[in-house]
Amino acid sequence: MIIRIIFAAFVGISFTLSSLSPAFSSDFLVTPPPKSMDKYYAETGKVSDWIIQMQKMSTAFSAISVSLDKKNWNVAEKNAELFFESYQKASKMIPEWKEEFNLKAANELKESVQTKNMEKLGTATEALEKTCSHCHMKNNNSVWVRYHWPSTETIKVLDPHEEKELSYEEYMGKLSDSLKRISVNFEQNDFQQAWKALDIFTKRITSLRSVCSKCHVTEWTKSSVSVKDFFVGEDILNSLQEIKKGFATGEPSEEEFNKNIAYINKRSCKMCHLVHQPTAAIQKAWKQKD
Ligand code: HEC
Ligand code: HEC
Ligand code: HEC
Repeated sequence: MIIRIIFAAFVGISFTLSSLSPAFSSDFLVTPPPKSMDKYYAETGKVSDWIIQMQKMSTAFSAISVSLDKKNWNVAEKNAELFFESYQKASKMIPEWKEEFNLKAANELKESVQTKNMEKLGTATEALEKTCSHCHMKNNNSVWVRYHWPSTETIKVLDPHEEKELSYEEYMGKLSDSLKRISVNFEQNDFQQAWKALDIFTKRITSLRSVCSKCHVTEWTKSSVSVKDFFVGEDILNSLQEIKKGFATGEPSEEEFNKNIAYINKRSCKMCHLVHQPTAAIQKAWKQKD
């Protein structure tokens, strides 16, 4: 299965000093990166050799323009040489991507600096920048999905209500079910059942906090703010507390109730899905394909 994402607008990111936004197809395919890339990302916790190569290449590339701004031709020449070597090396690292590189332009860049030919230099630089952004736009998303995002597949969540371990997806189903039960019972004026569902939902959303650290390993020590202040934070528990207070009066306001449920739907479910679900969906589609 292939994921098709239609981008209405696409913001171009350029890693060089100038910025360009190349034409990009509105029918954009997110396909898995080539298998030969796996070896550069094999060791978790270590910076990928591919990334190291990119940084080397990028630094040399920028250093050429910076030196030329200062009319420092000697340094520019050294960096053009360095760039050529690192660009050539990168072109050999992933055979499937060989065609994405323009070695002729890299050589012309080197020659143009040696001969101080500004016109040729401009043309070569532009041609090279095109190769950077073309490959990044086409492949970065796939690389991030494959190598930078942990999968939800291996995560187990303990359901505090049924007291059993569930898959991430199953747990989402339970969470959703208990949230719906609050509203349905409320609409039927069955506040006793609504209260019960509210208690179950509160336990489940609180338990969801334990899964964040499965992926956000280093976030905890950075500052007093932690990732779990988002989507499963005190504001969500406060909204639940507000609903409960309403129930306790015996005559809860429908307006207040709807306001609090809408807050939870938006600030917890929706916002977390906007951040985390696209990647999980793509990973799942690729798995079906394998
Ligand atoms: C054949 C494909 C390809 C070409 C050509 C390419 N890149 Fe990349 N580059 C990538 C991919 C894929 C990543 C993302 C790697 C990752 O995030 O793990 C990347 C990442 C980068 C990064 C970010 C590294 C980091 O610290 O995360 C920089 C900087 C970069 N490229 C610079 C360049 C420049 C400059 C050029 C052109 C002179 C270029 N790249 C050409 C594929 C390419
Ligand atoms: C399957 C792995 C996974 C799980 C589980 C997960 N996240 Fe994330 N989340 C990520 C990744 C990857 C990013 C991208 C940025 C990064 O790596 O921090 C991200 C980004 C975020 C961001 C935006 C930027 C940032 O890093 O601060 C927030 C906020 C966030 N997650 C909160 C949470 C909360 C809260 C939970 C638990 C209720 C959670 N996440 C569970 C993988 C996960
Ligand atoms: C930590 C972030 C996070 C929070 C908070 C969260 N979800 Fe999810 N949810 C996910 C991710 C990630 C998936 C995709 C899981 C997968 O495919 O493995 C998902 C999938 C789902 C699914 C199944 C797919 C679908 O859309 O039919 C449902 C239903 C769901 N969530 C409901 C909810 C509800 C209701 C809430 C709020 C009470 C909620 N979720 C809160 C991250 C979150």
